[in-house]
Amino acid sequence: MLMSIVLAAGAGTRMKSKLPKVLHRVARVPMIEHVLDVVEHVNCDRKVVVIGHEAEKVKNAINHRDVQFVLQSERLGTGHAVMKSEKEIADEGNVIVLYGDTPLIKEDSIEKFIKFHIDNNFSASVLTTEIENPKGYGRIVRDGSGQVVAIVEEQDTNEEQKKLMEINSGIYCFKARELKESLSKLDNKNSQGEYYLTDVIEILNKEGKKVGAFKVEDYTEIMGVNSLSQLADAEKMMRNRILRDLMDRGVAIIDPNNTYVGKRVEIGRDTVLYPGSFIMGDTKIGEDCIIGLNTRIEDSIIKDNVEIINSTVLQSTIDSNSKIGPYAYLRPNSHLGKNVKIGDFVEVKNSKIGDNSKASHLSYIGDGEVGENVNIGCGVVFVNYNGVNKNKTIVEDNAFIGCNVNLIAPVTIEKDAYVAAGSTITKKVPKESLGVARIKQSNKEGWVRRKGLIKK
Ligand code: UD1
Ligand code: CA
Repeated sequence: MLMSIVLAAGAGTRMKSKLPKVLHRVARVPMIEHVLDVVEHVNCDRKVVVIGHEAEKVKNAINHRDVQFVLQSERLGTGHAVMKSEKEIADEGNVIVLYGDTPLIKEDSIEKFIKFHIDNNFSASVLTTEIENPKGYGRIVRDGSGQVVAIVEEQDTNEEQKKLMEINSGIYCFKARELKESLSKLDNKNSQGEYYLTDVIEILNKEGKKVGAFKVEDYTEIMGVNSLSQLADAEKMMRNRILRDLMDRGVAIIDPNNTYVGKRVEIGRDTVLYPGSFIMGDTKIGEDCIIGLNTRIEDSIIKDNVEIINSTVLQSTIDSNSKIGPYAYLRPNSHLGKNVKIGDFVEVKNSKIGDNSKASHLSYIGDGEVGENVNIGCGVVFVNYNGVNKNKTIVEDNAFIGCNVNLIAPVTIEKDAYVAAGSTITKKVPKESLGVARIKQSNKEGWVRRKGLIKK
């Protein structure tokens, strides 16, 4: 029996932000989601999140997860937050406690940590690391034999303890029963007047219970985010980790200092990310693609061998061998088929474009259904909005739309039809026909000379 408690009730005063701290994002994902991902990985029987400051906001942000909320309406410290969850803690088994502001902890470390705790039959274990600048963290105090005896908060340290470089991550594993017993013994006689969860370690140690510390090598895992500048540090570390992982899987990244990839993004091997790639959300990119320079992709599916240069792609799907950009804008709910070309200054919104079709320059395709092998000339506008409703334009297979055409929706261009350049089309063009809708040209011969406008 294993349960988890994630503390997320604090205001995050040091962030100086209106947004609750745990909702600040790292790799565009709220910090608490990173922590909950790790919790999910270790298969807890029960998952509790303690909320308090802006409780509704925090709850709404993570309500999609299978977690139980406990309200800590008064924030009297990390120990107090766990006291509030006491009713939820069983008598048997173990409890893992994590803080919602440590987004960089790795699944693998948590797994090893829990095993260390259980294998050694500890009453309480704490995850620690050594860092060069321990300022702001609780210090791990050991006795002469190396046994952990207490955790002392920065504000409560003496000169000697200030020099200790082993710090508390804020991640603990407790025997459930012993945690419950110790909670009632916590007091708030310290410099912050708070009930510290960290004091449980000292209490159990004094009672002669076995207390352990599990040290991780990589101090970046432990980083707690208390300010926006620490948030930027965490972002950098997370980014570095994500990019290294992608490179290990065969994704080429030209400049990792100028490439941004979200945690949930998947990218196939031999895809190359050029500088300025910003790829976030639930995005999946296939193999052998070229992304960038300067390209933003969010919540999209990109199949193999696709090129997207200097463009924005949002909540859309692009099938294999297609070429997008430079300067294209694919807005939500667009689906491009195979071998499609969407060129410079083309905007596509809520539209389907069939295999082998092209819109190479300066067009707007909104609420359209474009078939296969269609050519959309330069400057074509799908006039989808009449001021009241959005209407649909259908362009069937093999149609050819000349340059500077307005297709006033709702309208259909049937299979194998042509539309003459400069036409404003308001009614159906039947299959295999040419639609022309423009004033016939007339020439006034000799007009320039008669007006005396010939240049010497
Ligand atoms: C805490 C630890 C410190 C450790 C550091 C690691 C204590 C007393 N100190 O300090 O030893 O090195 O984390 O990052 O635990 N929270 C609540 N309710 C409260 C207070 C806090 O839910 O009443 C939550 C916060 O939302 C936050 C977490 O607990 O997610 C940690 O609180 P914070 O104030 O950031 O503690 P630190 O000062 O960083
Ligand atoms: Ca903190």
